[in-house]
Amino acid sequence: MTLPNPLYTTDYGTAYVGDSLLLLDRLEPDSIDLVLTSPPFALQRKKTYGNVEQEDYVEWLLEFCQKVYRVLSPTGSFVLDLKVRLESYLTCIANRTNSKYVF
Ligand SMILES: C[S@@+](CC[C@H](N)C(=O)[O-])C[C@H]1O[C@@H](n2cnc3c(N)ncnc32)[C@H](O)[C@@H]1O
Repeated sequence: MTLPNPLYTTDYGTAYVGDSLLLLDRLEPDSIDLVLTSPPFALQRKKTYGNVEQEDYVEWLLEFCQKVYRVLSPTGSFVLDLKVRLESYLTCIANRTNSKYVF
């Protein structure tokens, strides 16, 4: 698993630009302590960054969450910033993965 060239590096870490679904696959399992993200929303209006259709959103977010789960260390945290009205998506994913979420 190799990562692409970083955008920049500081004493605190390294930034990469790319499709997170692909970049997550290149990280070692159980290697990340914190994932903090504001992912695309399932909006009715199309965004220039290409958000998925509402009916496809749960599958898209579920795939993303599963990739995050693979790289998170056992004591790691996953902070997901979603609009409150998207709670139904989180409920659906929590039910399908037998997991819990906290507001
Ligand atoms: C809801 S916006 C987040 C905005 C950000 N919180 C801010 O305040 O600027 C979602 C962002 O995710 C990016 N994005 C969409 N699909 C992505 C993907 N597959 N991998 C990485 N970033 C993605 C979009 O370009 C957009 O900037």
